[in-house]
Amino acid sequence: MKKFLLTLAVMIFMSTTSYAAQSEIILPTVGINSDEISVTQALQQRKSNRNFVDKALTPAQLSKILWAANGINRENGKRVNPAALGVYSVEVYAVTKEGIYLYDPANNKLKLIAEGDYRAITTTGQSFVEKAAVNLVYVEMPKAWANAKYASPRDAQISFANIAAGAMVQSVALVAETEGLGNCVRGSINREEFKKVARLSADKIILLAQSVGYCN
Ligand SMILES: Cc1cc2nc3c(=O)[nH]c(=O)nc-3n(C[C@H](O)[C@H](O)[C@H](O)COP(=O)(O)O)c2cc1C
Repeated sequence: MKKFLLTLAVMIFMSTTSYAAQSEIILPTVGINSDEISVTQALQQRKSNRNFVDKALTPAQLSKILWAANGINRENGKRVNPAALGVYSVEVYAVTKEGIYLYDPANNKLKLIAEGDYRAITTTGQSFVEKAAVNLVYVEMPKAWANAKYASPRDAQISFANIAAGAMVQSVALVAETEGLGNCVRGSINREEFKKVARLSADKIILLAQSVGYCN
């Protein structure tokens, strides 16, 4: 009951607060809607959408999308999506009308990296991207492998990260269907510009992007 009231309070706070000035966004706890479609239905409906309309997601939707991308689903801290050797080497940036945020799965929050509308730099020119409510950018962090139980060659690490990102985008695609949202996985990203604006260290690799939002 206490947890429910706390979640409700956060949701009310979030729904009345603009993202713009916040250096940190505490995301509401992810719940299951009673009218959600099944996984099989979501798979039946899955497709790439490119007809986005510029309409923000609710905090609950944004939270659910990010949780599907890189969230924790168990007490032991393990995540929704699998990762080779249990090394979570892929971090997720959320690029909205208000700014570029880094998703922090452990604390279920977003940390502001750059304020402003940078959606256009998550593409090399596909204009639909600029309208999508959120563009997720999946980035490999080479340093994450330093804590791996077993060493693996760098090319294997990169391959593992790409496979993990594949699982992540598919989970987002399915949750997008349950929320009545469209999505499009994208390999065409202005990597140089995004690296600069999001202040990524030189060793990080931008793997994929994914537009998510309301569609016509
Ligand atoms: C790794 C990968 C990269 C992709 N890159 C782009 C892209 O840059 N732009 C785009 O519009 N679609 C991109 N797509 C989406 C594909 O074009 C799409 O999945 C394919 O045409 C099949 O259509 P469907 O997803 O509707 O089934 C990408 C898909 C994958 C898996």
